[in-house]
Amino acid sequence: MSEPIERVHVDLGERAYEVLIGAGLLGQAGRLIAPLLHVPRVAIVSDATVAGHHLAALKAALAQEGIEADSLELPPGEATKCWAQLETVCSWLLDRKVERRGIVIALGGGVIGDLVGFAAAILRRGVRFVQIPTSLLAQVDSSVGGKTGINTPHGKNLIGAFHQPSLVLADTGILATLPRRDLLAGYGEVVKYGLLGDAAFFAWLEANGPKLAAGDPAARLHAVRRSVEMKAEIVVRDETEQGDRALLNLGHTFCHALEAATGYSDRLLHGEGVAIGCALAFELSARMGLCSQEDPSRVRAHLREMGMKTDLSDIPGELPGTDALIALMGQDKKVLDGKLRFILARGIGEAFVTSEVEPEMLRQVLDG
Ligand code: GLY
Repeated sequence: MSEPIERVHVDLGERAYEVLIGAGLLGQAGRLIAPLLHVPRVAIVSDATVAGHHLAALKAALAQEGIEADSLELPPGEATKCWAQLETVCSWLLDRKVERRGIVIALGGGVIGDLVGFAAAILRRGVRFVQIPTSLLAQVDSSVGGKTGINTPHGKNLIGAFHQPSLVLADTGILATLPRRDLLAGYGEVVKYGLLGDAAFFAWLEANGPKLAAGDPAARLHAVRRSVEMKAEIVVRDETEQGDRALLNLGHTFCHALEAATGYSDRLLHGEGVAIGCALAFELSARMGLCSQEDPSRVRAHLREMGMKTDLSDIPGELPGTDALIALMGQDKKVLDGKLRFILARGIGEAFVTSEVEPEMLRQVLDG
C-alpha cells in the first residue's frame, strides 16, 4: 500500500503552489516536478551532508522521468548563508545557463533553502525553484512562505527577498536520517505553531510529541501537515509581513538575541533558541498579567518532557548580561520606529504582536 500524501495549497493567486507532505516523496520527485518543466533539466543545490544521504535518490527519481540533473554541493552549516556562497550559487547557475523558466531545486535544510531561494529570486530577476526540505525545521517553517536570504556580520537574514517556491516536497520519511538534536530543534518550531494559534494542536503535541520524537510516521505526518497548514494560512493573510505574519516569530526576538550572543554556533541551534524564546515569551506574558502563570509552566513542562532546552541556564557557556541581550534584540527585523516588538500571548494558542512591553518586566525575565 502506498504511503499517504497530504497536500496543503498556499493560495497566493498567481504565486500559488502546493506543499506535498508524506513519506517517500523523494522517490516520486521526478513525477511530481516533471509538470513544472519546459525542458527536462534541473539544477540541484545541496550541502555535502544532505547530498551524501539523499542526492543519489533524488537524481534517480528525476532520471526515471528522463530529467537531467546537475548538482552543486556546498559546505554544511549556517556560515554557508553568506555573500560568498550566494555568488558561488549564482555563478554556477549562470554557467549552467539556467533560464527564467528553468527550475532550481534546493535540497537541504533551512540554510540551503534560504540561500538557494534568494539566488533564485535575484538570478535573471527571478527564476523558479522547488524546495525539498530535509530537516524538520525546514519542512514546517523555512521552506514554506517565500522568505529567502543570507546573513551578514550585522545579523541573520538581513539581506533577502520574498520569493515563493513553485512546489515544496516535504518527505517526512527522510526525517529518520536526522540526528536527534536537529529533530528536536525543528520540534521547537512545531510547538511554536500550537502556542501561537492552536491550543488543541499544542494539547495534541503534549500527548503525541514523545511518539513523534521516537519516529512514529503518522505522528510526524500530522505534525508537519498541521504546522504547514497554519503557516500557509498566515502567509496567505500577510505574505510580506505587514502584520499577522509576525506571529510566526513567536519566541524569535529572544532567540535572535541568544543566537547572536552565542556566535551562531552549535552552543544553540535556531530551533532550540525558538523553544527557549517561546518559554520566555510566555513567562513575560504571565508577568505582564496577560496570561495565567500556569501557561508558561505548561510550556516548560512539555519542552522538558521532550528533553529540550527551556531556560537561559540550559545554554552551555557564559551568556552576556541582560543589558547586552536587550541591545542585541535591537537588531531584530520587527523593530519599528526604534521600538522592540514582541509576540506575547493571552493564553496558549492566543498570540498577538505588541510594542507595549514593560522594560522592567523584560529585565526580570532575562535576569531569571
Ligand atoms: N519563519 C517566519 C516566517 O516565515 O515568517
